[in-house]
Amino acid sequence: MTKKVLVLPGDGIGPEIMAAAQQVLEAVIAKQGLAIELDHALVGGAAIDAEGAPVSDATIAKAKAADAILLGAVGGYKWDGLEMAKRPEKGLLRLRADLDLFSNLRPAILYPQLAEASTLKPEVVSGLDILIVRELTSGIYFGQPRGIRVNEQGEREGFNTACYTESQIRRIAKSAFEAAMQRNKKLCSVDKANVLEATVLWREVVSDLAKDYPEVELSHMYVDNAAMQLVRAPKQFDVMVTGNMFGDILSDCAAMLTGSIGMLPSASLNAEGLGMYEPIHGSAPDIAGKDVANPLATILSVAMMLRYSLKEEAAAKQIEQAVSKVLDQGYRTSDIQQSGCQLLGTKAMGEAVVAAL
Ligand code: IPM
Ligand code: MG
Repeated sequence: MTKKVLVLPGDGIGPEIMAAAQQVLEAVIAKQGLAIELDHALVGGAAIDAEGAPVSDATIAKAKAADAILLGAVGGYKWDGLEMAKRPEKGLLRLRADLDLFSNLRPAILYPQLAEASTLKPEVVSGLDILIVRELTSGIYFGQPRGIRVNEQGEREGFNTACYTESQIRRIAKSAFEAAMQRNKKLCSVDKANVLEATVLWREVVSDLAKDYPEVELSHMYVDNAAMQLVRAPKQFDVMVTGNMFGDILSDCAAMLTGSIGMLPSASLNAEGLGMYEPIHGSAPDIAGKDVANPLATILSVAMMLRYSLKEEAAAKQIEQAVSKVLDQGYRTSDIQQSGCQLLGTKAMGEAVVAAL
C-alpha cells in the first residue's frame, strides 16, 4: 500500500531546507522503489498569509490522514507583532496537540567529523550519543489558565500554568524507558522537584514506572544541574526524559554539543506511531533566502521518518550513511566552521547527499 507523507515547508529557511530534504527523499524512493507519495500544505506564517490561520482545518485533516508529516520551520519577523493565538508557532503547536504527538525524540549525536567544530573540547564530546525525550503536548506550553490580565492592584500580569497529570507523565516516561531499553539502559529524568509540585508528581510517577523496567538504571536530576552537566560532562547521559519546556531548552543546549544546531533531527510521535519529523532548529529569518542554511537536520529527519513511521530501516540507514559520507568528503555549510573544509550552500549540500546515496 502506498504511504502518504505530508510535507509542510513553513517559513524562513523552511522552504530551502525542505527542498533539499525532499530531493534526498525522492532519490531514496526511486533507488529503493518505495511506495511513498508526497503531498504539500502550508503552515506558520505562510499559512497565515494565504489561508488566514497558522494551520488550516484542511491541513490538520490532511495531516491526520497521512502516515507521516515532514515539517521545516515556522515563524519570522513579519508575524512577530501578532497576538499569541495568531502567531505562526500556533500552527506547529496545534499540529502537535491535535495529532497528540506527545513523545518528542531529540537525538544529539556527534559525528566524529565534527568533533573539532563543537564549542566544547573534542575529548568532552567525541563519541557523544544522547537522546532527549521531551514531553510535547502538555505542561506549561498548554496549561490553562494562561494569559495577560490586570490584577487586583491594577498592574498588568502575565501568567501560565505548569501542570502534568499522572497519565501524561506515565506515557512519556514509558516512551523514555522503552527507548532506554533499545540503547544503553540508562535513563535520567529531569525535573525541578525541589520547587515545583508538578514535577514532584513527575518524579513520583517516573520512579513508580521504573519497577516495570528493572534493567534500566534510573536517575533524577534537577534541571539547572542537568543544564550544567550537559556542558560539563555530556557523555554521562544516555536517555534523558523531561517536560515540555525543560526539554525545549535542554535540547537546544545538547544540539550545540554536536557542532551545530543545524545537525539535529527530531521525531514527534503519538500512541499509534503517526509521527511528525522536523529539524529542532527554527526558521532563522536572518539567513532565509540566502542559500546558506544547513539542510542536514531536515535530511536526517527524513531518515527518522523512514525508520519510525514508514518502517523503511534500510532507506533510513542509507540516508544517514550518505550524510556521514558528505562530512567525510569535507563538505560543510556556513554554520560549521572548520579549516580545510569546503563550504557549500543549502542546495549544493542537498545535491551532495543525493550524490552520496
Ligand atoms: C522547538 C521550537 C518550538 C517549541 C517553537 C518554534 C514553538 O523551539 O520545536 O523546539 O518551543 O517547541
Ligand atoms: Mg526549541
